[in-house]
Amino acid sequence: MEKEDVILNGETDLQRKSDVIVIGAGAAGMMAAIGAGKRGRSVVVLDHARAPGEKIRISGGGRCNFTNIHAGPKNFLSANPHFCKSALARFTPADFIAMVDRHGIAWHEKTLGQLFCDDSAKDIIRMLLAEMRMAGAVLDLGTEISGVEKTEVGFRVSTSEGHYEASSLIVAAGGKSIPKMGATGFAYRLAEQFGLPVLETRPGLVPLTLDPGLLESIAPLAGIAAPAEIRHGRTAFREALLFTHRGLSGPAILQISSYWREGDEIVVAIEPDIDIAAHLKTAKQLNGRQSPQTALGDFLPKRLAQFLVEREKISGNMADLPDKALLRLAAGAQNWAVKPSGSEGYRTAEVTLGGIDTAALDSRSMEAKAVPGLYFIGECVDVTGWLGGYNFQWAWASGFAAGEWA
Ligand code: FDA
Repeated sequence: MEKEDVILNGETDLQRKSDVIVIGAGAAGMMAAIGAGKRGRSVVVLDHARAPGEKIRISGGGRCNFTNIHAGPKNFLSANPHFCKSALARFTPADFIAMVDRHGIAWHEKTLGQLFCDDSAKDIIRMLLAEMRMAGAVLDLGTEISGVEKTEVGFRVSTSEGHYEASSLIVAAGGKSIPKMGATGFAYRLAEQFGLPVLETRPGLVPLTLDPGLLESIAPLAGIAAPAEIRHGRTAFREALLFTHRGLSGPAILQISSYWREGDEIVVAIEPDIDIAAHLKTAKQLNGRQSPQTALGDFLPKRLAQFLVEREKISGNMADLPDKALLRLAAGAQNWAVKPSGSEGYRTAEVTLGGIDTAALDSRSMEAKAVPGLYFIGECVDVTGWLGGYNFQWAWASGFAAGEWA
């Protein structure tokens, strides 16, 4: 890599020349830098943050759910569901696990194929930095980018630290989620600057909010979690549901939030593995003197049982209740149609849906078809994974793909 001081208008203007510039030292950017560096390309990674991989650090509750052993194209949302296939096939969860193992990082499967570090997410950041060092990639943190231009031979990036030039530019600047961690939507603006289409973006993997009336009625449930199936149209997820002070959360809600659109209904089934209607009928026969709250309390948290009974305005003992009332009660728990008023937005969303239209990118290399040398990878591309390690797998795979070509 060449560095030279150029005198411009009497001021010293640092110029760095390399083969590849990567914008964004997150999961995707570091992976791309490793790949390109290993091919012998000189690489410089720029990030405005003071530390690399900040989202890795906070991910998975500090333990980083770094991949999912079941990751495949079906776990991703995109206007073109086929786009992710090539990259996912060429860098698989097993490939990432092999890297983690090479670095002696202990991990475990938590549930549903989700792999977490035993110790700390920082182990993954340290591993990526070590791999970058081995690949000879240079990391320039605290670098604000003021402009990007196409030159005759590649790209020129103007920054607070001077100018950078390279023949290839990989944009790995992430999406809009968690602005307080430095998410800026920069990648979308850059794509537009180069004439690439950007599909509407919206928060994904995000808690859903409820209107004030409904929120008031479920206020006593805040903090309660229960196994649930949440449906939106033909899509359904079975995981935990959590009632909060703002609405609904928990993995099942985060999953469905990526499919949900403003104005849509979702259908909640609590304890989907239990036939609540049958259970209530049996309870009525066996112990008619118990209250419906007590009967529901056999498998639901007490406050939730109480809420469901009060909502259906049911009173009396089980023996007093017609089967119709029991069915209504069961349906209240297992066929509960809810219309969320909105989502908590980018403030808490784990990912950004939509983004750079995959139609503008080559699926093998992530290179912009109309702008040779320009690559987009990771969250800024219109490929969004489910909750459970899929988004990092996309970051690794798309980063690897660009690293092989840039
Ligand atoms: P990422 O956002 O990681 O990196 C972008 C980088 O670009 C950042 O370093 C940023 O500072 C830099 N940047 C942005 N704008 C810039 C600019 N203008 N100039 C210079 N640099 C700029 N996924 C998963 O699979 N398992 C998990 O456990 C979790 N957990 C999780 C928890 C939380 C709280 C969040 C918010 C997200 C997750 N995710 C997750 C999602 C995962 O973090 C996300 O999909 C990846 O970090 C995306 O990687 P990227 O490299 O594309 O973007």
